[in-house]
Amino acid sequence: MDVDVRQLRPGEEAAFLTSVRVPFLDPATDDPAERKADERWTAHLETARAWVAEAEGRFVANACIYSMDLTLPAAPGRPTPVVPMAGVSAVGVHPTHRRRGLLRRLMAEMLEDSRNRGEPLAGLLASESVIYGRFGFGHATSATEVAIDSHRSSFLAPAPEVDLRLISTDEAAKILPSLFEQARRTRAGEPSRNSLFWEELLEDRPSQHRGTSALFVAAADEGYVLYRSQEENVMRGDRVPIVIDELRASTPEVEAALWRFVLDLDLIGRVTAKRRPVDEPLRWRLADPRHLRMVGLDDRLYIRLLDVPAALEARGYRREGRLVLDVVPPRDTLDGQPDVAPGRWVLDAGPDGASCRAARAGEDADLRLGVTELGALYLGGFPASSLAAAGRVSELRPGGLDRADGLLATWPAPLTVTGF
Ligand SMILES: CC(C)(COP(=O)(O)OP(=O)(O)OC[C@H]1O[C@@H](n2cnc3c(N)ncnc32)[C@H](O)[C@@H]1OP(=O)(O)O)[C@@H](O)C(=O)NCCC(=O)NCCS
Repeated sequence: MDVDVRQLRPGEEAAFLTSVRVPFLDPATDDPAERKADERWTAHLETARAWVAEAEGRFVANACIYSMDLTLPAAPGRPTPVVPMAGVSAVGVHPTHRRRGLLRRLMAEMLEDSRNRGEPLAGLLASESVIYGRFGFGHATSATEVAIDSHRSSFLAPAPEVDLRLISTDEAAKILPSLFEQARRTRAGEPSRNSLFWEELLEDRPSQHRGTSALFVAAADEGYVLYRSQEENVMRGDRVPIVIDELRASTPEVEAALWRFVLDLDLIGRVTAKRRPVDEPLRWRLADPRHLRMVGLDDRLYIRLLDVPAALEARGYRREGRLVLDVVPPRDTLDGQPDVAPGRWVLDAGPDGASCRAARAGEDADLRLGVTELGALYLGGFPASSLAAAGRVSELRPGGLDRADGLLATWPAPLTVTGF
């Protein structure tokens, strides 16, 4: 039976969402709040960047791209660079049509569209980490979940005094987008958020609570924290667990004050914070740091470089150096689709900027690695030497790994909080 893979047409957005729900095992309900959320989602869909597979007049697979941008590592004292990113999302194949190459065909459409629009990279969050490496997506950022007993959370030095306000979600909708925008420029790896993201987050429908209370929002001039209690009934005398959904600030002082605010809430016990950086600064503020436990570690953003010179020139570098990279195609070449990412590339980089070009005859490579592995190294979340230790990067010239580690290193560690 023929299956046609094609772009979505205007007017098909609602059918697209119905299709997206099938592989994610999330059928629509009659709840009016959920229906309203569905309408909002379809209204924001970039129809020209959505694709479906159609068999006998039914959609059997789907995928779309959000036009986003991404923060990159910054050179010292320079503003954080931001590049356009194709945010791959809503990827799914109906159970009736799995393992027939539909994901491969959808991926070919999406990467071609992204290349044609001049986006240097695509990014996604994966439901399963095994799916996308074959197409050149490398695991570029991680996030931790940390937990601490509020009664064991004294700081070595008092947190700075900062004016904090508890605000409604309506007020939050007005001020959080710009606070987030400032905060995301302090770390690489954070995608932009559109108004749909904020509406969805701050509407805080009961279906989003997952056994916790509604959202509390506290904000300062340079940051905010979103938190919930894990029990509705706090009068029993038990210490209530708290979950921090998001804590973002554009200065370390405000970040510390936001932590202190939550840790000092009355009636509480264990505080768990989701999607925190792997180099969590809170640890270094604690008098007794052992009580801060890492209770989870997740892969977050996967990056697929599409234009290697543009991507490598866009990010910042802390050191001066040259690196010659032999970049080999990913395992799945999408049926021979043109891919300009593989090649031998010469990167000359330093704090004042970078240039990247194709190597000339006789310019030997320092390292050989796949498009997938370069995607993993791109934000500096992992050193090349770690991937080499796993046989994923080969050193072709002595010192090549050391040069790559020094040149691509980024701190603070990249982090992706925003899901899409
Ligand atoms: C994951 C999913 C999109 C794969 O779609 P698909 O059309 O079956 O994939 P394809 O047939 O194009 O597979 C391409 C290759 O990837 C492999 N592959 C696909 N999904 C895989 C998985 N979950 N685990 C391991 N390998 C997988 C296939 O075996 C195939 O490789 P091969 O040709 O060497 O055998 C589909 O199973 C699905 O919709 N799952 C549920 C929703 C989901 O997880 N979506 C991803 C959201 S990020």
